[in-house]
Amino acid sequence: MMGLMRFINVFPKVCSIFFLLFSVAANADAVNGVFNVKNFGAVADGKTDDAKAFVSAWENACKSNSAATVLVPEGTYVVSLATFTGPCNAPIVFELHGVINAQPGLNTVDKENWIVFKYMKNFTLTGDGVFHGQGSTAWPQNVCSKNSDCKLPISLRFSFLNDSTIQGIQSVDCKFFHINLLGCYNLKMRNLNISAPKDSPNTDGIHIGQSSGIEISSSVIGTGDDCVSIGQGSRNINITGVYCGPGHGISVGSLGKAKDEQVIGLTVRNCTFTETDNGVRIKTWPDSTDGLASNFTFDDIVMNNVGSPIVIDQQYCPYNKCNLQVASRIKINNVSFTNIRGTSSTKDAVSLVCSQNFPCENVQIGDINLVHNGPDGPAISTCSNVKPTLVGQQTPPIVV
Ligand SMILES: *[C@@H]1O[C@H](CO)[C@@H](O)[C@H](O)[C@H]1NC(C)=O
Ligand SMILES: *[C@@H]1O[C@H](CO)[C@@H](O)[C@H](O)[C@H]1NC(C)=O
Ligand SMILES: *[C@@H]1O[C@H](CO)[C@@H](O)[C@H](O)[C@H]1NC(C)=O
Ligand SMILES: *[C@@H]1O[C@H](CO)[C@@H](O)[C@H](O)[C@H]1NC(C)=O
Ligand SMILES: *[C@@H]1O[C@H](CO)[C@@H](O)[C@H](O)[C@H]1NC(C)=O
Ligand SMILES: *[C@@H]1O[C@H](CO)[C@@H](O)[C@H](O)[C@H]1NC(C)=O
Ligand SMILES: *[C@@H]1O[C@H](CO)[C@@H](O)[C@H](O)[C@H]1NC(C)=O
Repeated sequence: MMGLMRFINVFPKVCSIFFLLFSVAANADAVNGVFNVKNFGAVADGKTDDAKAFVSAWENACKSNSAATVLVPEGTYVVSLATFTGPCNAPIVFELHGVINAQPGLNTVDKENWIVFKYMKNFTLTGDGVFHGQGSTAWPQNVCSKNSDCKLPISLRFSFLNDSTIQGIQSVDCKFFHINLLGCYNLKMRNLNISAPKDSPNTDGIHIGQSSGIEISSSVIGTGDDCVSIGQGSRNINITGVYCGPGHGISVGSLGKAKDEQVIGLTVRNCTFTETDNGVRIKTWPDSTDGLASNFTFDDIVMNNVGSPIVIDQQYCPYNKCNLQVASRIKINNVSFTNIRGTSSTKDAVSLVCSQNFPCENVQIGDINLVHNGPDGPAISTCSNVKPTLVGQQTPPIVV
């Protein structure tokens, strides 16, 4: 009886000493709110999988009640798969100075994810470091016609982030897309350098879906697919000061596969496209569901030897796997193209092919000067199911 009483008495003390020791240990791993991955076991030898150390540094930082930074110092790390999840107790920064390599080849731990940041507000990813997806070790072996399980991971996923900033970092040779945004609200992306070879498959630079208030500025994107693609549920997207190329350009869509797809509010301004297949493009599937693409401004854009600088394609049908006889049901309106100049590598400098059943409305074309130099004659424009309002001077002339 006596013994038990003593135990009950002592128990809280033992507990609090234990707690004290534990928190001292946790604090020893963080100096002034900086959680260095090396203090959590990362070895940076370019071989060892440091995933556990990264996630452990993150989890400790995320629990901090004051602003915390996860620091990845210079060095070469291998991370197989890492999910950095919030919500965190305070604003949190992931500061990358090293190079993080994915595992090479097709046998990734996860078929869809590599590095994931999700469920946070006031998050910052910054630094001059590199996320290297090792894509070249996977692209040639990944033949979907021979292997139906041909999914490859997206390098960086930002999902459900609010009031956050992504800046400075590089993404190189993703296996699938470089960056995917889902459910983000008020996100700024600046000074990014995104690169993969021009013949690399499906290596979209930044794909935006179900997100609003997104700003992409002062960035260089050269890749094998769209530099930026803007999908279903995107609103209030600004893209400024972006150099795109090589790649397929900046594209809205393709819209119309799923129910009621909408993209509303996009500005692309002060951007340069070099040697891209397309410049600015809106694409929708034929035989589609209802949907809306509205309030787009394309302004102050330079095209250097771009395949198709200005495109609306409501008969988008790659591999001919759709019914071109049935018109798209996506409504496109309030679109302006102004101050777009440079060279087109094909004759088709301006191609606005709208839906027969839902013609494009309120399309404005301002000053345009797109030149094609080739044996096949000067640049031309094509318009169907659209009567654009013309303001200023257009080369090629817009023929309705
Ligand atoms: C982000 O903002 C949305 C809309 O305001 C809100 O519903 C959501 O809970 C927020 N998420 C986080 C992680 O703060
Ligand atoms: C985010 O956190 C920083 C401090 O790290 C603070 O200055 C800033 O106001 C916060 N922003 C928002 C939108 O909460
Ligand atoms: C972007 O990154 C690529 C690959 O690391 C590099 O070759 C290129 O110089 C970088 N560009 C800029 C503008 O930093
Ligand atoms: C986009 O730019 C417009 C003005 O051009 C501005 O009103 C809007 O707030 C900006 N949105 C974002 C997300 O930066
Ligand atoms: C256009 O973008 C370039 C490259 O980011 C930047 O240096 C320049 O200041 C921008 N110009 C304007 C008028 O915003
Ligand atoms: C497009 O912009 C106009 C003018 O700013 C606004 O009145 C309209 O509601 C916007 N359209 C949509 C679908 O949000
Ligand atoms: C198109 O723009 C006009 C004027 O800015 C606006 O009143 C209208 O709501 C817009 N239409 C859509 C579908 O956004």
